[in-house]
Amino acid sequence: MKDLIQKTANVLKTAKVITFFTGAGISAESGIPTFRGDDGIWKKLKAEELASFDAFMRNPDLVWEWYSYRRQIINKCIPNSAHKAIVEAEKLFSKVHVITQNVDGLHIRAGSSNVYELHGNIERNYCIKCKTFYNDVSDSVKVPKCTCGGLIRPDIVWFGEMLPEKELEASEKAVYDSDVVFVIGTSAVVYPAANYIYMAKRLGKYLIEINVEQTSVSNLMDKVFTEKSGVILPQIMKSLQR
Ligand code: OAD
Repeated sequence: MKDLIQKTANVLKTAKVITFFTGAGISAESGIPTFRGDDGIWKKLKAEELASFDAFMRNPDLVWEWYSYRRQIINKCIPNSAHKAIVEAEKLFSKVHVITQNVDGLHIRAGSSNVYELHGNIERNYCIKCKTFYNDVSDSVKVPKCTCGGLIRPDIVWFGEMLPEKELEASEKAVYDSDVVFVIGTSAVVYPAANYIYMAKRLGKYLIEINVEQTSVSNLMDKVFTEKSGVILPQIMKSLQR
């Protein structure tokens, strides 16, 4: 592992712009469950019954309660050493971008400057009728209503919905401008987000994966670390500071 870290450090020494593309795995060490795998959320609950607009309209209280429950878990969690290592990277490179599929806001809470949240943020909510945003909502079991009477939903991209345009544009530019792209803690099976990995490959970017297991994109990588991101990322950053 030491040798792999050293080789990676040698590549990173000449890099100027870096992108970190992250998924639920990076927050696992903060105590937030991932979606897939043996302990994953979607093993116990059906995504289509909770994470779609149809599901929300069918049973708004159930969907609201589920997101309130997750919001409570996330609020108690704090950024881990992987989130912090990415913040440290800003001192080492001229530009650091973070494209994340996570809705937990931990990259922003850790202090990263350029974070593009492709799937929204669980802290934000908006009225489905008049689109007014609500950041502080109670963790009630019943879905709250806007002053206009519309239901308030979490600002999360559900299955079948479009990703936010501004984030898509910023992410595309980030990958385009980068010398190295890290792919961290994602099963890379949810699209269009996973497309950024293929885009990076097509553009000839240097790709580094950090994941506790092999994924369907491991074969695209220039380097693969099969380890926890909270263990490896700080070591990589440390090797660059020497
Ligand atoms: P997944 O749950 O699909 O994948 C998590 C990945 O993290 C797996 O490949 C694990 O092996 C890996 N992993 C677990 N612990 C790790 C650790 N400590 N260090 C490094 N890797 C670790 O999560 P995502 O790929 O993020 O969508 O899922 C993508 C989307 O599917 C999510 O954004 C969510 C979900 O439906 C929305 O909420 C819209």
